Amino acid sequence: MQVLLLGTAAGGGFPQWNCACRMCTAGLPARTQDCVAISADGAGWYLINASPDIRTQILSAPALAAGPGPRDTPVRGALLTDAELDHTLGLAMLREGAGLQVWAPPAVLHALGTDFPLQGIVSRYGSWDWRPIPETFPIDGLSVTVFPVSGKKPKYVRSTADGPWVVAYKITDPSGGSVVYAPCLKTWPDGFDELIEDATCVILDGTFYSPDEMSGATNKGVGSGAQRAMGHIPIAGPDGSLARIARHPGKRWIYTHLNNTNPILDPASREYEEVLAAGAEAPLDGTLITV
Ligand code: MLT
Ligand code: MN
Ligand code: ZN
Repeated sequence: MQVLLLGTAAGGGFPQWNCACRMCTAGLPARTQDCVAISADGAGWYLINASPDIRTQILSAPALAAGPGPRDTPVRGALLTDAELDHTLGLAMLREGAGLQVWAPPAVLHALGTDFPLQGIVSRYGSWDWRPIPETFPIDGLSVTVFPVSGKKPKYVRSTADGPWVVAYKITDPSGGSVVYAPCLKTWPDGFDELIEDATCVILDGTFYSPDEMSGATNKGVGSGAQRAMGHIPIAGPDGSLARIARHPGKRWIYTHLNNTNPILDPASREYEEVLAAGAEAPLDGTLITV
């Protein structure tokens, strides 16, 4: 299985257009909003999430180039982990594509039919197949397992539909290789250790390095108080994800959905050194992983 990291930043991307914080002005490599593409055979690809940057992401990836017919595309569809705007706005950018499949939790499909009526809008441009996810399902030679993560709703949602509102996906190929994609974790969920036990590669929520990053000394004025409300497990600290990673050696650990305040965006930082020392990494957009 091939896993292509199309984007690795949180909502807003890096740098963020209206931000002049220390990190956004440091001249570090830019990152687009998080999205991966997966493929069993390199011929058909599925996106996990569809970021507003999807057009640039697809055009930057030779594997996703259109063809061989004039309107053929290797992009078959998308699996959504949640209904957040940074994970769904890209579907509107894909409206020229006919016959895409979109898999999502029922609550997410409900939001995309009501509070953010993307299903109705896109359906006026082409016929898409919107599918509520069962616990497991096949996609073109790969097997998908759904892991319910949380009931965290996007800010714009008024719907009271039953969750889960956020899920993670484990994708397994016939040879047994597997990747877990979990870009939105509030805490380390119960049962997550078991899910990842036999995974080859885990791509994890790396939004924030520290629990108080958006209110700390170096980031005054970028949104104090907003971090806790956003609900993302920090990398560092006793309740952070890095401490959990240490319990699972022998896998490839990747952080994605990096917020523009995260010091690990700087590969020369002490914080990124710590991530590397723990056996994890935060590769740039465009990285291809073979599982
Ligand atoms: C999140 O990851 O918490 C959301 O995407 C925040 C946002 O972009 O509004
Ligand atoms: Mn997000
Ligand atoms: Zn910034």
